[in-house]
Amino acid sequence: MAGAPDRTMRMESPLAPRMRINGREVDYFCGTSYYCLHGHPQVIEAACAATRRFGMGPGTGAAMQIYDDLQAALREWFGADHVTYVISGYTSPMVMLQGLRDDVDLVLADAASHYSVRDAMATLGLPVHCFRHLSPESLAEALAEHVRPGQRPAVVTDGVFPSSGALAPLPDYVQVMAGYDGARLCVDDSHGIGVLGDGGRGALEHHGVEGPRAHVAGTMSKAFGGLGGIVPCDRARAERIAANAGILRGASPPPPAAAAAGLTGMRLLRETPEMLASLRRNTAHMRQGLRDLGFDLPDTPVPIVTLRASQRRQGADIAMLRDHLATQDIFTKLTPAGGYSDAPDEDSMRIAVFSGHRPEQIDRLLTTLADRL
Ligand SMILES: Cc1ncc(COP(=O)(O)O)c(C=O)c1O
Repeated sequence: MAGAPDRTMRMESPLAPRMRINGREVDYFCGTSYYCLHGHPQVIEAACAATRRFGMGPGTGAAMQIYDDLQAALREWFGADHVTYVISGYTSPMVMLQGLRDDVDLVLADAASHYSVRDAMATLGLPVHCFRHLSPESLAEALAEHVRPGQRPAVVTDGVFPSSGALAPLPDYVQVMAGYDGARLCVDDSHGIGVLGDGGRGALEHHGVEGPRAHVAGTMSKAFGGLGGIVPCDRARAERIAANAGILRGASPPPPAAAAAGLTGMRLLRETPEMLASLRRNTAHMRQGLRDLGFDLPDTPVPIVTLRASQRRQGADIAMLRDHLATQDIFTKLTPAGGYSDAPDEDSMRIAVFSGHRPEQIDRLLTTLADRL
């Protein structure tokens, strides 16, 4: 979840669960930096040190140690031979899919896939068909309708949908795809990586569907506190990516500061397992508290919790609730109907849970909401 900045909120301190916005100290529940590593002092210092040592970076053809160090850390994180690192998370599904272009014949995509996925598919020159959002039944129908004998489909989806926080039902997709030789599962897991799975490898790990026919693209700009797209892969796939993905030859990498920030964020996450534990606790706390207020919410470890009027038997005025929270210096995000790639067709309020939120902050959000329900 990114996009045009919300001009009603002017940031005046580094990102944190409690931070300075519009001249006030507020409880912050927006965005995608689930561990607030972008505002962590060690991350900030690493970015400054890398900038002092290497400058802004691009503009040279010379190798830099910081990218090698990041590469080594990413390989270890994912247990992969190689992790391609590109300018933005937005471009990583394109890199993933271009690396598979010669191994698939058509693409089937969740209809609410992220903009990055839609743009990526358009570069392939392959037929693309959509199936209903989150529906294995619709995927089964689409496979039956569009895949001719001998054809190899790529099934593409977000792992965690950015505005709703919904988890794609990957095990069901894998089951449905089992009858199709050469089928590949391709996941934009920008919001799952670093958050889901005990090893932080994301939605594929969470669902137990990792394997040679499951592919992932992600970002350093959310959980890891950096910036840049990442595509973990084996050696053969890395060669295909290098051959097919023009961005690797024709675009600059993220600046050394971004690489150093992400590398430090990953190190902090590895050294401090309490961060993941705390994110899980806070997510469960928020989800249970909102269920107690009458919202029908699934019990998942996804730290994106979204409220819609239709989730509550008694209904709710979502825009009014968001404004009421803001008057109490609690900031959440209102997504208008259809206002993002996967946004529902009614207003929704997106609450981002962070590892660093104190339980009292979550309770204050819940009681402030309860005042108006
Ligand atoms: C699902 C998904 N994919 C890709 C991106 C793009 O990532 P980045 O902002 O790191 O370019 C986003 C950003 O919000 C996203 O939500």
